[in-house]
Amino acid sequence: MITGITRQGLEQSALLLVIGAAVFGLLALRAYRRGDHEGWRRPALSAGGLVLLAVVALGAGYTVAPNIPTPPVPITARFAQNPVADTPEAWAAGRAAYNARCAVCHGPQGLGDGPAAFTLNPRPFNLQVHTPQHAPGEVYHWISEGIPGTAMPPWKDVLDETERWSLVRFLYALADGRARSTQ
Ligand code: HEC
Repeated sequence: MITGITRQGLEQSALLLVIGAAVFGLLALRAYRRGDHEGWRRPALSAGGLVLLAVVALGAGYTVAPNIPTPPVPITARFAQNPVADTPEAWAAGRAAYNARCAVCHGPQGLGDGPAAFTLNPRPFNLQVHTPQHAPGEVYHWISEGIPGTAMPPWKDVLDETERWSLVRFLYALADGRARSTQ
């Protein structure tokens, strides 16, 4: 998913808006203290407006905006074919690697609720939902290269190609219910 608007971007906009609101708030306060009973209203209104915009930005950030700037995948990587056959043996190999390396963040079922997930920003997505939305080559690319700007590390130096492609097989099989996370 390539889009300019992300949760992270909206959070930053909200922060700037709140800082702006604080400045107008101070101006309003100063005018009020001076006894300027007309002059304080305008900055106060501006402060309120900015707070409102910040709330809208955060609201969008936590509802409709994607919570991660998922980096674009090179076109060749996207169309890469999985050399590992789609068999229960491949799922088992993928499951073993998954439980050893990935479950701590992505959760035992891939739901994004591993014990380490709650400390991460952005949080890991629900892989059962997200894997089928992407081409296998994309998933393989992210597993191999990691996702910059997130806690997702690159695995290409840790897991060999067969292990990584088996993981991809396992994640799809987990998502459509053919494989289970435990045996
Ligand atoms: C230290 C925590 C951590 C570990 C360990 C980890 N991940 Fe991730 N992973 C993340 C985070 C954070 C993201 C970014 C949010 C997202 O896309 O889910 C991510 C993203 C992904 C994505 C992209 C999902 C998408 O649709 O955007 C895939 C696929 C993935 N991880 C698979 C794995 C696999 C397979 C392993 C084990 C080899 C693994 N991860 C290990 C934290 C982790």
